[in-house]
Amino acid sequence: MKFLGAWLVIAAAVRANFACQPLDTRNPWTSTVRESCKCYPGDSCWPSGSDWDNLNRTVGGRLTRAIPPGAVCYDSFEGIPTKDPAKCAEVASQWSNGSWTVNQATIPFITPFSNNTCEPNTATGLPGPPSGCQDTCTIGLLSQYAILATSADDIVAGVNYARNKNLRLIIRNTGHCFMGRSSGSGALVINTHRLNLIEFDSNCAHCDGHTGGVVKIGAGVMIKDLYAAAWPKNLDVMSGECATVGIGGGFLGGGGQGPLAGYYGVASDHAVSIDVVLATGKKLTVDSEQNSDLFWALKGGGMGTFGVVTSVTLKTYPTMPVTGMSLHIVDSGDRFWEGVRIWYTMGPKFTAAGIYVWYTMADGALSAQPFVAPNMTIAQFNAVVDPLLAQLRTANVSFTTTEVKTYPKFSNLYEDLWELSHMNSGSNTYWGGRMISQTDVKDRGSDIVAAFRQMSNMYPGQVLFGGHLVNPGNRIKDLQQKLSAVHPVWRDAADFQVFLYTPPPCLSVEQRAEAERRVTVELGGALRAVTPTSAVYSNEGDVNEPNWQDAFWGPVVYPKVLKIKKKYDPTDVFWSKSSTGSEGWAIRNDLRLCRV
Ligand SMILES: Cc1cc2nc3c(=O)[nH]c(=O)nc-3n(C[C@H](O)[C@H](O)[C@H](O)COP(=O)(O)OP(=O)(O)OC[C@H]3O[C@@H](n4cnc5c(N)ncnc54)[C@H](O)[C@@H]3O)c2cc1C
Ligand SMILES: *[C@@H]1O[C@H](CO)[C@@H](O)[C@H](O)[C@H]1NC(C)=O
Ligand SMILES: *[C@@H]1O[C@H](CO)[C@@H](O)[C@H](O)[C@H]1NC(C)=O
Ligand SMILES: *[C@@H]1O[C@H](CO)[C@@H](O)[C@H](O)[C@H]1NC(C)=O
Ligand SMILES: *[C@@H]1O[C@H](CO)[C@@H](O)[C@H](O)[C@H]1NC(C)=O
Ligand SMILES: *[C@@H]1O[C@H](CO)[C@@H](O)[C@H](O)[C@H]1NC(C)=O
Repeated sequence: MKFLGAWLVIAAAVRANFACQPLDTRNPWTSTVRESCKCYPGDSCWPSGSDWDNLNRTVGGRLTRAIPPGAVCYDSFEGIPTKDPAKCAEVASQWSNGSWTVNQATIPFITPFSNNTCEPNTATGLPGPPSGCQDTCTIGLLSQYAILATSADDIVAGVNYARNKNLRLIIRNTGHCFMGRSSGSGALVINTHRLNLIEFDSNCAHCDGHTGGVVKIGAGVMIKDLYAAAWPKNLDVMSGECATVGIGGGFLGGGGQGPLAGYYGVASDHAVSIDVVLATGKKLTVDSEQNSDLFWALKGGGMGTFGVVTSVTLKTYPTMPVTGMSLHIVDSGDRFWEGVRIWYTMGPKFTAAGIYVWYTMADGALSAQPFVAPNMTIAQFNAVVDPLLAQLRTANVSFTTTEVKTYPKFSNLYEDLWELSHMNSGSNTYWGGRMISQTDVKDRGSDIVAAFRQMSNMYPGQVLFGGHLVNPGNRIKDLQQKLSAVHPVWRDAADFQVFLYTPPPCLSVEQRAEAERRVTVELGGALRAVTPTSAVYSNEGDVNEPNWQDAFWGPVVYPKVLKIKKKYDPTDVFWSKSSTGSEGWAIRNDLRLCRV
């Protein structure tokens, strides 16, 4: 979503009043010496040039110094001249192109997480900063080095190196994470995006009676790659809506929602085995029989924290017909919000029919593009949706719809109806989100819509909503949380909502902290207050969400996944903000990741 962004509250996450030393000398008598901070450039424990060269040889020359791509638009980077007008024009033209951004070594999809460092001037394409911003290019919050891995062995080398040298280690696939978990200061990045295997198999060995086939995909494969491979074979795979999100990384680590979720549940329900590199550097294949605890945790129980996923095997299904339509409400003032109220309070009727709707909303315009109704006829669809249109007419709300059509396969609907512009990168946006339960929409739907209006009015023109009417628990109940380690509210969801706050560019440190406060306290607070039985999708929320363990996983699931984290990564080689097991560490004011 192009408007969107979020950002680490460095200041809030910090306890900076102890000295950072590589070795913990406070308790020298324990048998296992615990380091209190990771090593950073300038520390005596930071690796030497020849150490890095050795690592580079081990990974076949695929280690790269993470120079910001926008450095070509500035005079110099770390004392080295970098300006190149032709390359700068290229970077400026690609900055918002998600398909370009996913291929970069370290930069995040949205700019607050890099401290908006070395941004090109996209308005002019000429060297120099965006209008009014600082004309220097520094590392900002970006990492130091990246391994552009092409095999599990490259990943093993990276994990061993980071563990032995006590470095902050970050796993980056596409950089989509709008919670800032795939980027960070002073780190070694393992970039998994080049693991692009896609292999179909019509048989499945350990599939609990699943008669369809499976597909094994490398961790770097994006949703659009998998769709492009599966659709010509007349196969559906439970996946997401955004073409450039990776599947095997953060998406499955958070569960994964998408257009067929009302029919098939969350994406991680469909994994049959996962290959992973552990903190020890060991390669392991986990499934429902071998290391089933880790297999379960990797399915929705946290991202970037248990190990590095190298490939995943997912169930495939024969395609089915899908009916779809788009709806646009354009009106103003009370009548617009009355239209939203009518729309929103009917949401549970749509999700009960297995329908999914992706929509964007700002004051005055709601764009539901599209409705996706798996295996429903036009008559069945109209029976569910006509009462909505009738009520909108009665209330004199101004709206338009497209013709209701049945497509032979989901792929035809996706190609015909999907609104793709929200998949842009490079925006200066701060994000929050909430997975709103059926109970809350049924009990207080009107209050929730009043909260949306209130949030819109707080910062006029700067707040945008992206919603998904979907209930992955519509048919797949998973009452005991055996299939996936996701928050139980996933199986009782009515609307999975994100909101985006876009302040003006070039903020000072204080203004950034204020932007985060607005998202967490003001905007987030307004929505929390009217949704007491709801939760937050661990992949699409506010990284500073208070009590994130409860909000993202809940009091039943979280203690279980935390135990699994401690079993497989007892020394915290992996750390990902507000992800499972991260509470023992915090980023201090000096940007160091240290034990608290
Ligand atoms: C425009 C947009 C649209 C989106 N649409 C959807 C959608 O339709 N459905 C949905 O469910 N979500 C959606 N998301 C959210 C998306 O699922 C998350 O941002 C997800 O974390 C992205 O995963 P990634 O691996 O592509 O990204 P990254 O940012 O590279 O990684 C995200 C997290 O996963 C970890 N990670 C990455 N690779 C690995 C690996 N191999 N092993 C272990 N950990 C790893 C990272 O360390 C980080 O913590 C969308 C996001 C955006 C920005
Ligand atoms: C790693 O080796 C490759 C190939 O020799 C080289 O191009 C690259 O610059 C090296 N990376 C680092 C960080 O030195
Ligand atoms: C976006 O980036 C991709 C990958 O680099 C490229 O193939 C495509 O042409 C780019 N699109 C535009 C409009 O430049
Ligand atoms: C982030 O940007 C602000 C504003 O330009 C600047 O004052 C601050 O030093 C930057 N921080 C880092 C770590 O680059
Ligand atoms: C679609 O629905 C029909 C009955 O309405 C059913 O027979 C069929 O199995 C369903 N298809 C799928 C893929 O579930
Ligand atoms: C809708 O408009 C009609 C005609 O202008 C009017 O008679 C009716 O009262 C209006 N209904 C509502 C709910 O405002």
